[in-house]
Amino acid sequence: MSPVAAPPPVLRSGPVSLIRYRGGETPRLLAAVTESFEHLRPWMPWAATPPTFEALDEFVTRATAQWASGEAYNYWLSHDASPDVVGGGGLHRRVGHGALEIGYWVNARFTGRGIATRAAAALTTAGLAQLDVERIEIRCDEANLASAAVPRRLGYRLEDVLDDEVTAPGEVGRCMVWVTDAASWAPPSDEQGSTRETN
Ligand SMILES: CC(C)(COP(=O)(O)OP(=O)(O)OC[C@H]1O[C@@H](n2cnc3c(N)ncnc32)[C@H](O)[C@@H]1OP(=O)(O)O)[C@@H](O)C(=O)NCCC(=O)NCCS
Repeated sequence: MSPVAAPPPVLRSGPVSLIRYRGGETPRLLAAVTESFEHLRPWMPWAATPPTFEALDEFVTRATAQWASGEAYNYWLSHDASPDVVGGGGLHRRVGHGALEIGYWVNARFTGRGIATRAAAALTTAGLAQLDVERIEIRCDEANLASAAVPRRLGYRLEDVLDDEVTAPGEVGRCMVWVTDAASWAPPSDEQGSTRETN
């Protein structure tokens, strides 16, 4: 895969920052995923079994390699009010040419505060700023109401609902495909845009 210009290593939306994985995040990521395990298990295939340091360390290593290759841009989420990892999110080149897919999860202790919505908004703006990207997708199972509320709240349109493999226990196997593009994307008015890395 040929590398293209990567998005900024730090994105910011209100009190939420998205920070590129660099390596060394595994202990804090392990704490967040461990305390969120029962919350993540219904929806995230990677949370089928309790997290281990080794598995998450492998994820961090992969995230760093995928950033370099342009295959995926993964960030961990921080919040001004906490030193903890409050979630994760990323842009993935797995939905065809000219498109990126956004994925996200939020630490169970920090849900219901708009963190996923802010993260998805910042990722949408950054994704659409990529020269070769025309559309952004958010895909989620029809049963995942909390996830579907994120693109709905951001003004994405529901383009399709596809039969899909069940990959996590909460899913019913109907994949909602939410879409936005540069012509219809309206970033939240308080979005501060991207910043340069400080750590
Ligand atoms: C889905 C998830 C990321 C949402 O994170 P969050 O930070 O709590 O989301 P937000 O606070 O931005 O709120 C999103 C919306 O979901 C709504 N919501 C939350 N739980 C809900 C539920 N059980 N049913 C319906 N809506 C729900 C909120 O009210 C909000 O919508 P609104 O502002 O229109 O009222 C989080 O619940 C999570 O990590 N889930 C497990 C992992 C996951 O499913 N990831 C996505 C895979 S596709």
